[in-house]
Amino acid sequence: MQDTANKNTFTLTNNQTEETYTYNILEGTRGPSVLDIRTFFADTGLFTYDPGFTATAACTSTITFIDGKKGELRYRGIAIEDLAEHHSYLETCFLLLNKRLPSKEELNDFDLEIRHRAYLHRGLQKLFDAFPDDAHPMATLSAAVTALASFYDEHIEIQNEEAYLEMAHRIISKIPTIAAFAYRQSLGIPFIEPDIDLSFTKNFLTMMRAYPGGKMHLCANGHEEIKDVEVRALDTIFTLHADHEQNASTTVVRGVASTGAHPYVAISSGIAALWGRAHGGANESVIAQLEYIGSVDKVEAFIEKAKDPNDDFRLMGFGHRVYKNFDPRAKILKELQDELREELNLDTELMAIARKIEEIALSDEYFVSRNLYPNIDFYTGIILTALQIPKTMFTPIFVIGRTVGWITQWIEFKKDETSKIARPRQLYTGK
Ligand code: SDX
Repeated sequence: MQDTANKNTFTLTNNQTEETYTYNILEGTRGPSVLDIRTFFADTGLFTYDPGFTATAACTSTITFIDGKKGELRYRGIAIEDLAEHHSYLETCFLLLNKRLPSKEELNDFDLEIRHRAYLHRGLQKLFDAFPDDAHPMATLSAAVTALASFYDEHIEIQNEEAYLEMAHRIISKIPTIAAFAYRQSLGIPFIEPDIDLSFTKNFLTMMRAYPGGKMHLCANGHEEIKDVEVRALDTIFTLHADHEQNASTTVVRGVASTGAHPYVAISSGIAALWGRAHGGANESVIAQLEYIGSVDKVEAFIEKAKDPNDDFRLMGFGHRVYKNFDPRAKILKELQDELREELNLDTELMAIARKIEEIALSDEYFVSRNLYPNIDFYTGIILTALQIPKTMFTPIFVIGRTVGWITQWIEFKKDETSKIARPRQLYTGK
């Protein structure tokens, strides 16, 4: 506890005992300050109560900043709009890991290293055969990343910066391969090995789409080769998903980091947490919901269902714990959709239904009064569908983008001397 003379303090009174307690207010560089209540239980014998952590800061961090009111998102201080427009996903990965953007040479070296590390051990490839053909790729992805830990147990005890970065580069480069293999396993077709002559994003699309031997096959709209506009669109989607402060899956990753487990099982736990439809699984649910609504004239009825407190139907892709304004990533994706409309033939019935939902929800008192705006997941699905990517692969694509954020947060946790094992308490209401 602190003396009241220091103005940067907060005094609380327990009216049951008339005791007062004073705590420090800690200020960050931006965003809300925090009340340092680490001695609160020792001082008062009381716990604080905050299910879902709506008002709780679990750590200090220099990685990502979100201003929910303004709809602002920055990675290492750089605005997401700048990164999405002027930088590649790999530059964003370098920025998150190294706290600055790379020089041309550094980017070249980083790109080469990521390309060379994309291969999977033959033994790990056998794991995919254990899964049924209709296994959801998220199940395979999470299991394969846990298995990856057994191939690299040297990452349990990391002693220096170089080892941290090698561990991080390895998982960033292998995730797209694992995701593509999980997809091809679900189709029962042979895997396409990574091709070191292709960029990170083009390599992933090729591993997803090519016929055995790497030959591109005819896609629905007839074009053979993967178009640059598709690579650019997906690369932007990866950048927009790279990190997002202390969201649910990052909180899980930090929780696993706090017990001292292998970094790759922390990532695997993050994948599991992301799968839920309240979180990263929402992008797949958005498209499933648009398909279920089926036509523009049915939209109004579903909006009423979403507003009905007795109906657990929710509008997927709407609302956010932090953004009480437009999700800046959603804005960028909306612009990208408009830009790609012709080139990727986005004018589909699904797009028309999505636009109708947006039009109604953005002016409806229920959504406006609760600050429910479209979030990133509302727009991703339309673009990914146009890239011939099936909806079961939408959340794995979120995983590919977010892995760099998770591993950067994991490293920050490990380097923070104040880190402790995550062990919240409870209000016991049992016998
Ligand atoms: C992601 O945290 C992150 O940063 C996540 C993420 C990231 O990059 O890591 O941004 C990615 O997960 C985006 C969110 C994807 N999820 C969805 O689109 C699923 C639909 N959205 C909701 O489930 C909800 O909005 C959440 C989970 C996103 C946020 O939930 P909160 O903050 O706990 O809000 P809440 O449930 O307390 O809702 C507040 C009110 C409630 O109504 P009242 O009780 O006040 O009457 O808003 C209502 C809710 O019923 N509400 C919705 C709604 N979302 C909230 N009503 C209808 N449809 C919705 N989508």
